[in-house]
Amino acid sequence: MSTFTQTHKEEIVRILAGYPADQKRAAVMPLLHLAQQDAGYISGEVLQEIAVICEVTSTEVASIVGFYTMFHDEPAGKIRLMVCTDVACRLRGAREYLTALCSELGIAPGQTTADGLVTIEEVKCIAACDHAPVFQSQMGDEVEYHENQNPARTLDWIRLMTASLKSSQEARHE
Ligand code: FES
Repeated sequence: MSTFTQTHKEEIVRILAGYPADQKRAAVMPLLHLAQQDAGYISGEVLQEIAVICEVTSTEVASIVGFYTMFHDEPAGKIRLMVCTDVACRLRGAREYLTALCSELGIAPGQTTADGLVTIEEVKCIAACDHAPVFQSQMGDEVEYHENQNPARTLDWIRLMTASLKSSQEARHE
């Protein structure tokens, strides 16, 4: 038995109990949510475990992870910032905003800051086109929209969030 299955034995049984025995595939999404809480992303190994549990192929599970922007198949910082650079946002300066933000943080889109706390990702439309530049933040299961952004405003928010993360990490070590 592997790690995800062992660690979450009871939770997996509880989730599967919510669906008919011949419809285990319906449990893929809740199991992905559960798995992502552990490491912030779905590893290939965990993806295969979920496929076995739900009696589907790992390709089917991978396609769900790939389709939903809230699921991730790569490790990242504790805070993910997903900046929309799709056409409508581009017309409102999203590209320049992203470039300036990344430059301030010393990273490129898709990278994580040296302290391992913040990852900036470029995404397609997140349905807030008329309030661009916009980004969606994800910290664990917590998702927020941030509209009408500029680099200074976003950096203030990042400072606030990283300070709060650092102080809770310190409190845990005391
Ligand atoms: S194009 Fe950016 S939110 Fe729609």
